[in-house]
Amino acid sequence: MFGNIGKIPIIGDLTGSNKNAHLKGNLVLMRKTVLGFDVTSIAGSLMDGLGEFRKQFPLQMVKDLMPAGGDYVLKLPMPKIIKEDKKAWMSDEEFARETLAGVNPLIIRRLTEFPPKSTLDPSKYGDQTSTITEAHIAGSLEGLTVQQALDSNRLYILDHHDHYMPFLIEVNSLNDNFIYATRTLLFLRGDGTLAPVAIEMSLPELRDGITAAKSTVYTPAPPTAGAEAWVWRLAKAYVNVNDYCWHQGISHWLNTHAVMEPFVIATNRQLSVTHPVHRLLLPHYRDTMNINALARQKLINAGGIFEMTVFPRKYAIEISSKVYGSWNFTEQALPDDLIKRGMAVPDPSSPYKVRLLIEDYPYASDGLAVWHAIEQWVTEYLAIYYPNDGVLQADVELQAWWKEAREVGHADLKDEHWWPKMQTVPELVKACTTIIWIASALHAAVNFGQYPYCGYHPNRPSVSRRPMPVPGSDAYKELEKNPEKFFVRSITAQFQAVVGISLLEILSSHSSDEVYLGQRDTKEWTSDAKAQEAFKRFGARLTEIEKRVEAMNKDPRFKNRYSAAQFPYTLLFPNTSDKGDNTGVTAKGIPNSISI
Ligand SMILES: [Fe+2]
Repeated sequence: MFGNIGKIPIIGDLTGSNKNAHLKGNLVLMRKTVLGFDVTSIAGSLMDGLGEFRKQFPLQMVKDLMPAGGDYVLKLPMPKIIKEDKKAWMSDEEFARETLAGVNPLIIRRLTEFPPKSTLDPSKYGDQTSTITEAHIAGSLEGLTVQQALDSNRLYILDHHDHYMPFLIEVNSLNDNFIYATRTLLFLRGDGTLAPVAIEMSLPELRDGITAAKSTVYTPAPPTAGAEAWVWRLAKAYVNVNDYCWHQGISHWLNTHAVMEPFVIATNRQLSVTHPVHRLLLPHYRDTMNINALARQKLINAGGIFEMTVFPRKYAIEISSKVYGSWNFTEQALPDDLIKRGMAVPDPSSPYKVRLLIEDYPYASDGLAVWHAIEQWVTEYLAIYYPNDGVLQADVELQAWWKEAREVGHADLKDEHWWPKMQTVPELVKACTTIIWIASALHAAVNFGQYPYCGYHPNRPSVSRRPMPVPGSDAYKELEKNPEKFFVRSITAQFQAVVGISLLEILSSHSSDEVYLGQRDTKEWTSDAKAQEAFKRFGARLTEIEKRVEAMNKDPRFKNRYSAAQFPYTLLFPNTSDKGDNTGVTAKGIPNSISI
C-alpha cells in the first residue's frame, strides 16, 4: 500500500460548476494516495465532512492567506518526502535525519546523563526518570558502553516527555486521542548519521495523589520482522505526533510568529521612519501583523483549524502560552540555542565561534553561515550610526523602543535577568541580528518544509488514536493481519488529515512577490551610500552561501543532507539571487519576514 502511491491529484477549483463531483472524486483519490488508504466507501463520510470543511475553510480565507491574492486554489503537489522514493520515509535513517534536517530540527539535544532525567516537579509527578536501561541500547552503540558513548558526544535525545506529560490526562480525555509522552534516544554512528536506538512511550497514571508515568520502551526491529517491525514503525510515528504538534505550536507559532509582534509594534510606535534601526528592521516585519491577525481569526482561534488538526486541540494554545513562560529572547540567537542544547560548544578558533558536535547537522551548518552573514551586515550597518556606546545611550528613541518591546510587549517576562540592557553597540547588534534571524531564517526553516515533510501524513502524523498494540491482544492480531491498515487507522483521522494537509500546502508556499533575505523591495530604502554598500556585501555573502549549500548537498560525505528520500536540505538556501520566479512549494528560500 505505502509503496503504491499514485499521482497526487488537484483538489480542484472550489468555485467550478461541477465542484462537488470534482472535489468528491479528488478527495477520495487524495485519501487513497496521500493517506495511503484504499477504501472507496469513504466518499460518503468525506462528503459529510465537507460541509464542515467548507464552513471552516472557505475559499476567501485561502485567498486572504495568500499574500499575492489572485486565483489561487487548492492544488496538491506530491510531497517531496515521497516524490522520488515512496518508502524511504519508513527507514530509521530518515526518521533520525529529520531531527537534524527536517521541519523541526530544533528539539534534539546532546545527552549528558543516563538515564535521561525529568525536570517535572516530583511533588506532583513523582520520579519521572526515564526507564530506558543500558540493556535496551547496549547492542546499538557500535561496541561502546553507554558511558563511553556519552563521553564521546555520541548520544542524543528527542525529548518530548516533560513537554506533554502534564497535559496528557486532559488531552487523552478528548475523543479519538491516544497520545503518549515520548523520549527517543539517538546514537551518532561512525559514518556521521544518527540512528534511533530506543523509544520510551509514557502515559500518566494517578498514584497516591501524584501523576506518575507508566512507561514502555521499544527498540528497533528489522524491516523484515513482520508485526514487530510495524510496532517499531508505529512507535516512531507516535514520536512524530509529539514532534508535529510541538513544531506547530511552539517552534513555529510561538517562537517565530508570536514573539515577533512586540518588536513590530514597538518599532512602529517608538522609532521614526527615518531612524536607522527602523530602516534596518522594517523589511523584516512585512505582513507579519496581517498574517498573525488572520491566524487569530481563522487558525488558532477557539475551534479553528489549528485546534481541529493537532492533538492537543482545545488545549493547544494553553500549552503554547505556558511554554511562553520560559521563553528567552537571547536563547533564540542560533549560536546560543545550539550551545544550550549541547549541539555545539564555544570555540573561538571556529569561523562562527562555535563548533558543531554533529558536523553534518544541516539546519545548524547552513544556519550558522546565514546567522554570521546577518551579524556581519548588522554590525557594518549599525557602525555607521553608532560610533560608540555613548551615542546609543543618548538615543532617546532607541531606548524607548527597547523599553516598550520589553516592558509592554513582553510584559509577562519584563523582569527576566536575560534581557539585554541596551547600553552597548554589541548589545544592539546582537538584538537586531536575533530579530532578523527569527523573522527570516528561523521562520523559513520551520515554515517552508511543512508540506514537503508533513504533506504525506504517515511520515509526520498530527494525531495518534490508539494504544500501542500488546502481543496477544486483539489489536495485535489485527496488526498482524493487515499492518498497513492498522497503521493508518492509528494515526490522524481522514477529515483532520484532509484539512491539515490542505492548510500545510498553503502555509508552505512562496508568493510571486516574495522579498528574500539580502533583497529590498525598493532601491530607495536608504539614501545612505555606506549603508547601500554594506547591503551589497550582505547580498554577495548570501549568494556565496547559496553556492555552499548546493555544493554540500551534492557532496556524498554529508549523508544527512541528502537522504534515501532524495530530498536535499534547502530550507536555509537563501534564494537571494532569485528575482521572484520561484513560487509555490519550493522548500527553499529565506524571505525577509514572516508573511505566511
Ligand atoms: Fe509561518
